[in-house]
Amino acid sequence: MKVYSTGYEWMDHSMYACADSEVDHSPRVTIGGADCKQPYSSSILNISAMSFGSLSNRAVSAMNKGAKLGGFAQNTGEGGVSPYHLENGGDLIWQVGTGYFGCRAKDGGFDLEGYKRTVSHENVKMIELKLSQGAKPGHGGILPAKKNTEEIAKIRHVEPFTDVHSPPSHSAFNSAEGLLKFIKVLRDSSGGKPVGFKLCVGKDEEFIDICKAMIKTGIKPDFITVDGGEGGTGAAPVEFSNSIGTPMRDGLAFVSNTLIGYDLKKDIKIIASGKIISSFHIARTIALGADLVNSARAMMMATGCIQALQCNTNTCPVGVATQDKGLIKGLNVEDKAKRVANYHFETLKNFAELIAATGILKPEELTKEHINRRVSYSNVLNYEEIFPTTEVGSLLKKETVDSVE
Ligand SMILES: Cc1cc2nc3c(=O)[nH]c(=O)nc-3n(C[C@H](O)[C@H](O)[C@H](O)COP(=O)(O)O)c2cc1C
Repeated sequence: MKVYSTGYEWMDHSMYACADSEVDHSPRVTIGGADCKQPYSSSILNISAMSFGSLSNRAVSAMNKGAKLGGFAQNTGEGGVSPYHLENGGDLIWQVGTGYFGCRAKDGGFDLEGYKRTVSHENVKMIELKLSQGAKPGHGGILPAKKNTEEIAKIRHVEPFTDVHSPPSHSAFNSAEGLLKFIKVLRDSSGGKPVGFKLCVGKDEEFIDICKAMIKTGIKPDFITVDGGEGGTGAAPVEFSNSIGTPMRDGLAFVSNTLIGYDLKKDIKIIASGKIISSFHIARTIALGADLVNSARAMMMATGCIQALQCNTNTCPVGVATQDKGLIKGLNVEDKAKRVANYHFETLKNFAELIAATGILKPEELTKEHINRRVSYSNVLNYEEIFPTTEVGSLLKKETVDSVE
């Protein structure tokens, strides 16, 4: 550790540290606002969105089994709910992207009846509408005809062996109010399961518009997932991965402050993702305003990823990110499921030890003042000084609300 280099970060321990046995080793957060009839009690660490298609069937299955063993959730990614997400009974967050896979009409738009069928599955605990992801925000995707097998086509509700496009934005709405009304449709048609949206922060004013629309319509998402520009993907143009999208910590501080400023935070949980691997990363992210976190690539590594960087060539040598049957055969689901569960368990055990050392017992007691950052050789700031917290309701000044109407 280069402790005198700019960017080094650490937490302050307390002379009055708690025993880690006093801290809950698997803390949970309840997600679901006033309009939600089936709130979800979530672990603070879950598997971030990765589709069957970008991951192999065995990798999906191992992650799901790990989630079941460890009592946490797996996000399906935008490729829909596959049989491999269901066979082991782990909790699912079903992600609905711009391709509406799993609830897709013939013209590529949203199909409510298809949505109702998938969402009614008891393993689907929450629904995440994907607006953007950090690795390629504002960029759609294409499922090439040769990868669009009979099996994938059935899961995604598309024609097999045809090119299928996911557009860069949604066809079901085109405004902040439209987004919220769509969220209401998704929630009401799911029997009241929690519904949220995922975004990588782009233009600040577009997020502010959504907050103003929440106040105007009274419709709120149950959660917002903030992904960082540093996020990963199976495939994206390198310029998008490197140079578009607000990094997670900046985006998270902004989303948290904006919700606090409009007095909306009390109703909405924040999930964050972006290179979260260790218990310190979790603590830092919760201190900055998240209620819980997701991890994609650390979960891939627990599943056997050796960072061969071949996710987009179908040649992943360990069978994690490929559809090549010969390569997938080498991935042992039972073994990897245990590793996924162990990674989750050990990371949260370390997290409990870490917060106990700072003298607190619950994740929600973490504040920005707990995290220090060296900003030059002779200067150290804590996160509150770097990302000052907005006063509750401070953005609800009369002229702000007037300008909405
Ligand atoms: C192989 C792979 C596939 C992904 N697929 C999706 C996806 O379908 N939908 C999505 O919102 N994000 C997707 N992501 C992004 C992750 O869910 C996550 O937001 C991002 O990688 C940041 O988390 P990490 O740094 O822990 O990997 C994918 C990431 C990877 C590595």
